[in-house]
Amino acid sequence: MIKSANIRWGVGFVMLASALTLTLFGMSQSQVASVNESHDEHEHSKHREYRSDKQGRMDYQQECGGCHLAYPARMLPAVSWATMMSNLSDHFGENAELPAPQVAIIARYLVTHSAQPGDRVLRRSTQTAPLRITELPYFIRQHDEIPMRMVKDNPEVGGFSNCNACHQNAATGDFDEDRVSIPGYGRQHF
Ligand code: HEC
Ligand code: HEC
Repeated sequence: MIKSANIRWGVGFVMLASALTLTLFGMSQSQVASVNESHDEHEHSKHREYRSDKQGRMDYQQECGGCHLAYPARMLPAVSWATMMSNLSDHFGENAELPAPQVAIIARYLVTHSAQPGDRVLRRSTQTAPLRITELPYFIRQHDEIPMRMVKDNPEVGGFSNCNACHQNAATGDFDEDRVSIPGYGRQHF
């Protein structure tokens, strides 16, 4: 009897205390309810975000990985991806158009994972929206000692845009210079 009365009192006290706290912070019960709701809403939207990011990555690999490697998003800044995605009908001389919903989901994925100011891939880059990774000063510096006969004039490579010809693990985002092998020339050090 006494016990349950105590418990009831305890509950009442907690309620009073929280009511007081709420009053002090100028919040009504209905505002608290909506905070709790928006917490749930937040968890849901985080879950949705995760799912759409995963979907974005899958769509990106599927739709943009057919003609060439699905280049890592972190190799170009957000504004580059946004520019590129808004003009897919004229994509380096090709038509790479996609339905609008897919453009949106892929663009979102690319922008989310894009290079950020200060990242080493953007070092010394002066263009606001470079569309080619292969024209970034960082890229050029990493590759400027490789003779053209191993690249452009190499039928198994064809050009620097064909990353995975030399970086065999490029699809997993691995560009480590210790794991480069140039077709017909093998492992080279420059
Ligand atoms: C129909 C074929 C095709 C499709 C599909 C395609 N691309 Fe391309 N992409 C090209 C060609 C061709 C080039 C130029 C390659 C070259 O110069 O050797 C290119 C170049 C690029 C480059 C610059 C590479 C460099 O040289 O640094 C990026 C980045 C790129 N594409 C992103 C995308 C994205 C994102 C998508 C999906 C929305 C996409 N591509 C879909 C054909 C395609
Ligand atoms: C012709 C072969 C070839 C192609 C094609 C090529 N690379 Fe490379 N890449 C190399 C070599 C070789 C090195 C190492 C250079 C050295 O020894 O300093 C390298 C180095 C790099 C590095 C620096 C790695 C490190 O450990 O610091 C990055 C990043 C890179 N490449 C990205 C790319 C990307 C992205 C593409 C496509 C857009 C690409 N590469 C295309 C041959 C190539």
